[in-house]
Amino acid sequence: MCEPRYFDVRYAINAWMDVHTPVDAHLAGEQWRALVEAYRAHGHTVETVAPVEGLPDMVFAANAALVSGGRVFGSSFHAAERRPESAEYEAWFKAAGYEVHRSAAVCEGEGDLVPAGRFVLAGTGFRTQRAAHREVQEFLGRPVIGLELVDPRFYHLDTALFFLGEEEGAGGAASGEGNVAYYPAAFSPGSREVLRWLYPRAVIATEEDALAFGLNSVSDGRNVFVAPQARGLVDRLADRGYVPVPVDLSEFRKAGGGIKCCTLEIRS
Ligand code: ARG
Repeated sequence: MCEPRYFDVRYAINAWMDVHTPVDAHLAGEQWRALVEAYRAHGHTVETVAPVEGLPDMVFAANAALVSGGRVFGSSFHAAERRPESAEYEAWFKAAGYEVHRSAAVCEGEGDLVPAGRFVLAGTGFRTQRAAHREVQEFLGRPVIGLELVDPRFYHLDTALFFLGEEEGAGGAASGEGNVAYYPAAFSPGSREVLRWLYPRAVIATEEDALAFGLNSVSDGRNVFVAPQARGLVDRLADRGYVPVPVDLSEFRKAGGGIKCCTLEIRS
């Protein structure tokens, strides 16, 4: 994770960002620290990368890479404003003993790449290019399933879908591929079919849940760190046997981000 010391909305590269809406830096800091505390309180280790002045979106650590099996697939950002972030995160990984492969095609890490059991679900349409999906499959040797995003409000896959875990909460595994929560209208008709086929017991989110960044959640298979404003989704998760852990990151919505965006998972 990356502390929001320099977080701000200084440019607009997605439908949520408006340079005229002021960011409350103090509130952003408090909200971010509450997320760190929530992770720690549930037994998760949090490491931090130093924020860099002039990189206001660096707080969105999820976009910097995909880490799987200890291997790092580093990002090549779509927007010029964010491109310098790659080197900052790469330096962190190298210092921590990881080798980094940087994507040749535009790729925004876990923003568009969601490990889901044996598969990697991969978004495209606004940021990450199809060519990066092929690269990830070669790099990891895991099947990558491409999904087309069609609504500019949900420009990253992690704004429209999250992986709940290998099990299926209260219901028991049906497909053997774990389960997801998602907002169907964010996807093209064909991608919607793919999701229906892969996850017949998915938790379906409403537009209201999605607009509240409810799908920008982190699940450890039991606890789901989720925006409290996504009230319908929070109830449905609880019905399925998950434990919703509400964490309010409302200030980050001004930049089009939430809980998952602020979290890059180091998957060993
Ligand atoms: N302002 C950032 C951008 O548009 C927000 C990134 C949100 N991160 C995410 N994982 N969805 O690039």
